[in-house]
Amino acid sequence: MKTTMPSSLHNVAGLILFSLLFTVSSAQLSANFYSSSCPNALSIIKSAVNSAVQSEARMGASLLRLHFHDCFVNGCDASVLLDDTANFTGEKTAGPNNNSLRGFNVIDNIKTQLESSCAGVVSCADIVAVAARDSVVALGGPSWNVVVGRRDSTTASLSGANSNIPGPTSSLSQLISSFSNKGFSAREMVALSGSHTIGQARCATFRNRIYNDANINSTFATSLKGNCPQSGGNNNLAPLDVVTPTSFDNNYFKNLQSQKGLLHSDQELFNGGSADSIVNTYSSNPSTFASDFANAMVKMGNLSPLTGSNGQIRKNCRKTN
Ligand code: HEM
Ligand SMILES: *[C@@H]1O[C@H](CO)[C@@H](O)[C@H](O)[C@H]1NC(C)=O
Ligand SMILES: *[C@@H]1O[C@H](CO)[C@@H](O)[C@H](O)[C@H]1NC(C)=O
Ligand SMILES: *[C@@H]1O[C@H](CO)[C@@H](O)[C@H](O)[C@H]1NC(C)=O
Repeated sequence: MKTTMPSSLHNVAGLILFSLLFTVSSAQLSANFYSSSCPNALSIIKSAVNSAVQSEARMGASLLRLHFHDCFVNGCDASVLLDDTANFTGEKTAGPNNNSLRGFNVIDNIKTQLESSCAGVVSCADIVAVAARDSVVALGGPSWNVVVGRRDSTTASLSGANSNIPGPTSSLSQLISSFSNKGFSAREMVALSGSHTIGQARCATFRNRIYNDANINSTFATSLKGNCPQSGGNNNLAPLDVVTPTSFDNNYFKNLQSQKGLLHSDQELFNGGSADSIVNTYSSNPSTFASDFANAMVKMGNLSPLTGSNGQIRKNCRKTN
């Protein structure tokens, strides 16, 4: 009899512990989140990304960047996809995004396909996270496992987008601190910057570098000036990786070693400072870059997801339900 009380107490405690664990684990992302509710979700996303990248290789870069700009502002919650309306201000006009972010139509197209296969099930935030991985793979880069189950925000933050996403004039210490604010080491920041091995930038973002920076290869600078005059041509494009702009490889780091970073912020990673040794490592060891990049992308994709009953599954990625 003496054991009755403690044992039933123990059972109650066990039940509470069990429910706590269950609540916690149901709020986690997992690899099989859609395996019964939408078994084709991942293959639908992959096919759509592959066809978008096949029609325009740069789209792979644009989709990767969309995930970064989503996750760095209140976590990976698809806040970046919300359109401005008369009574709602989203993130699309933030300095780093305005006239710059791309890929929204590809996300819309994927969402439409998913809604017709399994209505109301797959979040926009997960679509962006999976599309970023599939984009990197489509351009020859490393793969990683994307856990899913993120939900979509009902809010966005213009001020967060303006303050959390680093700009192209950033110094090394500003880059380190922007990423450190999100929990990333300097090495992870350098690995993630290797994303600039694909995609394009507008003249407005690199003009000052090609006319005024000292640590730039002069042949490289001259080659860019024709399409990026001292004034005008703000939206004219140049590849972030001058050697292989549509291959996800480690040439970005080799370019930095020869003063051919396109953005001032790129060249800050190799300018006699503390990041030089990391650039040297990734330049000489592509597989170290590939695995560090993949690990850092997993970490980025896990920034403050909405799970459980938080947020919603938007029907249309551009607006809340
Ligand atoms: C380290 C700090 C970073 C800075 C200062 C930065 C800045 C920029 C800028 C200014 C552009 C050109 C935008 C334009 O001209 O319209 C750009 C493009 C791009 N960024 Fe970053 N970025 C950074 C990190 C990242 C990260 C972490 C990722 C992905 C994980 C990323 C992915 C990309 C891609 C793929 C493009 C090309 C997009 C396209 O062609 O549509 N960037 N970035
Ligand atoms: C915002 O405006 C739209 C029309 O553009 C209207 O349908 C909606 O009810 C408004 N929402 C709020 C919260 O005022
Ligand atoms: C965004 O770009 C448009 C041009 O497409 C410009 O008219 C507008 O002023 C810009 N918005 C901001 C907030 O910079
Ligand atoms: C700059 O780049 C050009 C073209 O790739 C190369 O021939 C030249 O040696 C480089 N100059 C310096 C100073 O590294």
